[in-house]
Amino acid sequence: MSAFLSVLRGQPAPRIPVWLMRQAGRYLPEYRALRAETKDFLSFCYDAPRAAEATLQPLRRFDLDAAIIFSDILVIPDALGQKVFFDVGHGPRLDPVTDFAALSFRPHHLAPVYAAIKAVRAALPPEKALIGFAGSPFTLLAYMIEGQGSKTFDRALHFIYTRPDEAAFLRHLLEDSILAHLSAQIQAGADAVQLFDSWAGMVPAPLYKDWVILPHQRIVTALRARHPAVPIVCFPRGSGVKLMDFARTVQPDGISVDTSTPMDWALENLPKTITVQGNLDPALLCAGGRGLDDAVQSLKNTCSGRRWIMNLGHGVLPPTPPDHVKRVVDLLRDTL
Ligand code: CP3
Repeated sequence: MSAFLSVLRGQPAPRIPVWLMRQAGRYLPEYRALRAETKDFLSFCYDAPRAAEATLQPLRRFDLDAAIIFSDILVIPDALGQKVFFDVGHGPRLDPVTDFAALSFRPHHLAPVYAAIKAVRAALPPEKALIGFAGSPFTLLAYMIEGQGSKTFDRALHFIYTRPDEAAFLRHLLEDSILAHLSAQIQAGADAVQLFDSWAGMVPAPLYKDWVILPHQRIVTALRARHPAVPIVCFPRGSGVKLMDFARTVQPDGISVDTSTPMDWALENLPKTITVQGNLDPALLCAGGRGLDDAVQSLKNTCSGRRWIMNLGHGVLPPTPPDHVKRVVDLLRDTL
């Protein structure tokens, strides 16, 4: 059994599990070479053999405990019928939604994701877990309404305030689509799933319950009813003190703690029945040196004896030297 799954289930593990958000990607030269063979990013995501290869690349280099399927959170808007494309140097672009009623989730569109999961699970040894994932309703709605990334997502919030019925319709559609997508990933072989609410921190406090807590609660409850043995990790990034309410209400198996949240605060204030994951600073991972060594040691000390999975507080940054990732894993394992 994998150390990653054991810790999520609150069982003793042979070692501290580690994986990194965005562990596959542009900081790896072998990813850049593979990626260069396909022009368009979404076509690359829907190319099952290449997506499977990108998923496995970081596990060939580093002694990680889990792979995360190479895909993107924006495959859901794409499978709903909203055209998504990636501009080089600009990030995602989505066509405006003109008719919300015309959106409908087509799981068949995501068949290559499920095929890639099947291939990766077959290639991985049993002690390595495979993580499936999806974006959460607020984060997906934010991209769908803005049509691109944003620092503030004020157009998305304007939509929620001024068109509440359409916003509620879209939220429910996203909840159902996320549930279907996660469930299909589990059926294809994912051992655990993570929900990325990367922009939860943009949700104003009075809207947090309706837009972050309750949608996660509905998804977690329904997914658990279908797949009781599969652990669910939530990443409501930027939630701050609201993480306490989130954890108590949603009761996921794991919470990924972001970079801005002190780990000792999280261990103190989140229910002991929930595994914490995180929260090394990705900028420090990129910088390296003594500061990085000290931070890994300090996290180890803080989290010793607790239900803890080593990870970053957000994704690996593209300029990160791969050697720094190796250093972190070696320090964690005390193999230096
Ligand atoms: O290794 C892994 O973690 C799996 C792969 C993964 C990607 N995206 C690949 C990717 C995962 C888990 C994601 C999730 C994702 N996608 C999130 C949530 C996590 C987070 O970082 O907050 C979000 C918000 C997105 C949306 C998205 N996709 C953006 C904003 C961008 C552009 C950003 C950029 O750095 O260019 C992407 C593109 C993307 N997704 C890339 C990768 C490796 C870079 C594009 C490329 O390789 O050509």
